[in-house]
Amino acid sequence: MSTVIKNGTIVTADLTYKSDVLVEGGKIVAIGEGLVGDKTLDATGCYVMPGGIDPHTHLEMPFMGTYSSDDFESGTRAALAGGTTMVVDFALPSPGQGLLDAMQMWDNKSTRANCDYSFHMAITWWGEQVFNEMEAVVKRGINTFKHFMAYKGALMVNDDELYASFQRCAELGATPLVHAENGDVVAELQAKLLAAGNNGPEAHAYSRPSQVEGEATNRAIMIADMAGAPLYVVHTSCEEAHEAIRRAKMAGKRVWGEPLIQHLTLDESEYANPDWDHAARRVMSPPFRDKKHQDSLWAGLQSGTLSCVATDHCAFTTEQKRFGVGDFTKIPNGTGGLEDRMPMLWTHGVETGRLTPNEFVAVTSTNIAKILNCYPKKGAILVGADADIVVWDPAKTKTISASKQQSAIDYNVFEGKEVKGLPRYTLTRGQVAVTDGDMTCESGHGAFVAREPNGTVNKALSTWKELTAPRPVVRSGIPASGV
Ligand code: URP
Ligand code: ZN
Ligand code: ZN
Ligand code: ZN
Repeated sequence: MSTVIKNGTIVTADLTYKSDVLVEGGKIVAIGEGLVGDKTLDATGCYVMPGGIDPHTHLEMPFMGTYSSDDFESGTRAALAGGTTMVVDFALPSPGQGLLDAMQMWDNKSTRANCDYSFHMAITWWGEQVFNEMEAVVKRGINTFKHFMAYKGALMVNDDELYASFQRCAELGATPLVHAENGDVVAELQAKLLAAGNNGPEAHAYSRPSQVEGEATNRAIMIADMAGAPLYVVHTSCEEAHEAIRRAKMAGKRVWGEPLIQHLTLDESEYANPDWDHAARRVMSPPFRDKKHQDSLWAGLQSGTLSCVATDHCAFTTEQKRFGVGDFTKIPNGTGGLEDRMPMLWTHGVETGRLTPNEFVAVTSTNIAKILNCYPKKGAILVGADADIVVWDPAKTKTISASKQQSAIDYNVFEGKEVKGLPRYTLTRGQVAVTDGDMTCESGHGAFVAREPNGTVNKALSTWKELTAPRPVVRSGIPASGV
């Protein structure tokens, strides 16, 4: 059974052209004029683009005494509804738990996925077992390791552990990721705010000013450089963090930054809302920022100093958020966005002229496929690539509403926002999962995407580090000892 997408304009990260696309056996098998298939999808007036890749989700994540409410079924359904065809989630070993054990747990969670997925492995503690199992994890197709510099007493790791793990990543040809916030300072600020009676959701933002992110981002970059590893900084939300990334890139360091659609389009005024639920639903780390940071993030996407737009989708219901009534430090941290990332970015990026359609494809799909070393299987409209395709209708509009969303939670942080630009069709490995908002996805269709280590950047960096490594000075007349 083959499918042909006809009458559309193909938009990739570097090209825009009119052509048909023929899909068979889950792959793109031909691109050209006048193609014929068993089934035809009409893309008149639409862009035919690589499906989105969200490199940062937390589906059914155990966190802050509960589990995030979207699992791999509802989460990937939401993804497909918004034109995203692959998610990368985080396997999180609990303290003392082996990495392979955690990987097995996340394998079990993901069996109902509607679209393809991969994992990052989190390094939540350090020891010989972790060191050894990192190699086994890489052999099983995970080449990225996540480190939390915040959440003291829970997921946080310290600088010595970061350095050890980053060095191990460099040896294995893997890439470390960081959640960059100074967890020690956050813990101090939280205690101080609570002691002063500042216990509402707005205090969450006060406890995590942009300085804690800027400092940690710079520290992680320098540690990665000393360890000889590239670095991917998740949820870059402010100018201070962006500045550190920009400076590092200009100095030749291999560093990438990932703004979230939430930080690009929502700001800290949400926490001043008199409705406790409204504010608590928007509690995430890093928090929403002063609007001025948004200009920095958009400029980063335009200039290439920031590389990918993600969601950090970690959805908690209002009931779960209410665990933190009277103590903001107990509000589960996280917001949703999987269904809305692509339409919101198109509306606020392409429709405003901040991004070209090609840049949109780069930051929603192709760049991350390259960074994660799964390009061009993913992130491409090329013969041989997986047929993860979104047929994007730039004229289609909707008002975002929790009442119509795929996510399992009872609200949406983008509620009431008008978007222009939505999928007409979303295809996951050739299977039509969305037709003008109607879902025909299949639970369990999604498959794990294994990713090889030693991508081109890892290779180049290790070559350079080897070439510039400290070497002993060769001397001829060595003085006798003790003289
Ligand atoms: O608040 C957030 N971001 N929750 C999910 C976990 C994380 O820090 O990414
Ligand atoms: Zn994080
Ligand atoms: Zn996250
Ligand atoms: Zn299937």
